[in-house]
Amino acid sequence: MSFDLTGRKVLITGAGDGIGRSLALAFGEAGARVAGCARTETRMQSLADDIQGHGHVLQTADLTRLKDLEAFQKEVLQQFGGLDVLVNNLGAVGKLADFMELSDADWQASFEVNLLPAVRLSRLCIPSLRQSKTARIINITSIAGIQPSPVFPHYSAMKAGLCNLTSSLAQTLAGDGILVNSVSPGPVWSRSWENEARASAEKSGIPMEAVAQEIKTSTAQTVLLKRMGVPEDVTGLVLFLASDHASWVTATNFTVDGGVTQNPY
Ligand SMILES: NC(=O)c1ccc[n+]([C@@H]2O[C@H](COP(=O)([O-])OP(=O)(O)OC[C@H]3O[C@@H](n4cnc5c(N)ncnc54)[C@H](OP(=O)(O)O)[C@@H]3O)[C@@H](O)[C@H]2O)c1
Repeated sequence: MSFDLTGRKVLITGAGDGIGRSLALAFGEAGARVAGCARTETRMQSLADDIQGHGHVLQTADLTRLKDLEAFQKEVLQQFGGLDVLVNNLGAVGKLADFMELSDADWQASFEVNLLPAVRLSRLCIPSLRQSKTARIINITSIAGIQPSPVFPHYSAMKAGLCNLTSSLAQTLAGDGILVNSVSPGPVWSRSWENEARASAEKSGIPMEAVAQEIKTSTAQTVLLKRMGVPEDVTGLVLFLASDHASWVTATNFTVDGGVTQNPY
């Protein structure tokens, strides 16, 4: 199924790589105007080169900094003159460590990247979303919010918090016709996994490609469909939620995980 989102105004955080970039490209292909940001200029330039359509707002911003976040949001609203869809995609695992090795600073950093930008952007964008007839907030969470991992308890807790926020926001905003849902991916090969593989290769002296292949093979064993996801595995569901086909869907968390969680409810 392809979706016609012609003219929809969509803001996507963390749009320079992985799932965010793939979403930006897919929304562009569906006819939407896309606003996206990340911190690295070259990645945003690459997205600007590859995205279809016109009138996009692709910029650098560090969304853990309030000033950057406010300036980016203001610029988007000025250029778009409104907003239909907010996709809170930004998130990062951060330090891989068990509970006793994580400091207050690690927890704070996780909060500042995984939860606070979604809270702040939702608050800033809700007045504009109230003016839209097709308003959506879509939060990209993680199966770690449902099945927490002992190697990233901070990230797991923040993602559980984002799922929880999805439900409370959906209740708050139902009367305004703003639909709020979350999408929880399973393991999707992206730059964060590449970085882990690179770090492990440097430590062990094993070539990067071999380490990456080993991670992909071992992770695939945890997936019912026996492969890791790619960013494009997540885009279809998000576009569906943004489309008119999902006009009776709210306050729901969807897993897209190749069957990892196997939760029938
Ligand atoms: N990949 C997975 O296996 C997986 C699984 C479950 C859930 N998720 C969730 O899916 C979402 C996307 O993950 P991904 O793996 O596709 O991410 P990714 O490839 O690591 O990309 C993250 C993007 O966010 C940007 N970013 C990071 N910090 C930022 C900041 N402070 N301000 C603005 N932009 C920032 C990065 O660019 P810069 O570094 O240039 O800023 C990059 O463009 C995240 O919420 C993640 O938690 C991912």
